[in-house]
Amino acid sequence: MFSKSIFVLLATALLQALSAYAFDPSSNSNVAVYWGQNSGGTQTRLADYCSSNSVDIIIISFLYVFPDNLQVNFANACGGATTPDGTLRCDQIAEDIKTCQGQGKKVLLSMGGGVGTYGFTSDSQAEEFAETLWDLFGNGSISEDERPLGDAIVDGFDFDIENQNQVGYAALATSLRTYFAQDTSKTYYLSAAPQCPYPDASVGDLLANADIDFAFIQFYNNYCQLGPNFNFNTWEDYAENVSPNKNIKLFVGLAAAQRAASYGYVDAATVDTYLTDDILSNPNFGGISLWDASAGFSNVDEVSGQNYVQQMKAIVVGDGVATTSTISTSTTQTSTSSTSTTSSTSTTSSTSTTSTTSTTSTTSSTSTTSSTSTTSSTLTTSTTSITFTAPRYSKVTHVVTLYTTPPLQDGAYYTTGWVPQDGQYDNSKFNDGQWHE
Ligand SMILES: *[C@@H]1O[C@H](CO)[C@@H](O)[C@H](O)[C@H]1NC(C)=O
Repeated sequence: MFSKSIFVLLATALLQALSAYAFDPSSNSNVAVYWGQNSGGTQTRLADYCSSNSVDIIIISFLYVFPDNLQVNFANACGGATTPDGTLRCDQIAEDIKTCQGQGKKVLLSMGGGVGTYGFTSDSQAEEFAETLWDLFGNGSISEDERPLGDAIVDGFDFDIENQNQVGYAALATSLRTYFAQDTSKTYYLSAAPQCPYPDASVGDLLANADIDFAFIQFYNNYCQLGPNFNFNTWEDYAENVSPNKNIKLFVGLAAAQRAASYGYVDAATVDTYLTDDILSNPNFGGISLWDASAGFSNVDEVSGQNYVQQMKAIVVGDGVATTSTISTSTTQTSTSSTSTTSSTSTTSSTSTTSTTSTTSTTSSTSTTSSTSTTSSTLTTSTTSITFTAPRYSKVTHVVTLYTTPPLQDGAYYTTGWVPQDGQYDNSKFNDGQWHE
């Protein structure tokens, strides 16, 4: 019980140490989460997720009917109101997009998805649709009440095309770039979400012919998931030799919980194993993308208290997974005792003698009372070793010694065998039974 709470404290300290990370498009330690389809069954409003330090990019999903009868769906997060054109109107999401952007997060609108009626019949139809997208979701000129997300301006578009109709997307992407160039007040991004088999049957043409910033590659529901056939190196070859954007950032796309995929979900320790130093340091590695936010935030590791999104952030920044393997727990009991003995002895004796019949009777009674009380206090010391794997450094073992009886006191805590990095786990910060940063 007690050691569990110290794990949580350590995890909290680890997270606080991460709070300095913010979105940087050229970083290789970004975490992107899809949000909108409630794959975890626990979806709450968008702003609840982007307030997390572990999240850099949020891909809201989906714009799933286009180019005609355009429609969006965000599961339980939007319903009721519509624009004059009959598209859902999502004022709370609009508000939250601005909140997220204010926190330095990038919000992309994802087009497509596994279910939907979408696609183009020609490049020119797709090019025309670029203007519609720009007007409805970008910084175009259209009245606000016609925009599904009100006055919120997304940071770009994601192509999660899954219906194997590849027509027009490269043309659409190229055309969108011309609109992006009209607004120099901020940077817009384009991304695609291929399945891991290369080339992708739906966005392969787009990835080979357009300037795409991020590829959120789905390494689940496929043979090439994290396992013996993990094919990230194929995608590295694509980035170096095929992509028109040689700086494209490849994200390892993962199911954020068992229930978020048909198959291919792997736990954080497994992710840590597959994301080798070579991958983490590859110039085209961008980070990890997750399907989806609700699944990842509700997938909490019982021991460390970290959710899957936090664990992924720790992996991409090089801290590894705070695996809490208990290498050894030894318990030492030290007893101190004091003994006091009180003893009292009383003896009464009487003798009577009469002369006629010489009778002598002697009665004698002796009573001794003795009491011994012992007070003892026992100090129980429990030593637990926690291993943090840190791919970019080395495996480190954190030995925590806890005085479990009496309850934890200030300073009743020390570590050995730990090389602090960036000031983390400074013992002096542990006071009042909690960690102070
Ligand atoms: C939209 O574009 C206008 C210029 O037409 C610019 O002044 C403004 O900053 C842009 N707004 C945002 C939020 O990017």
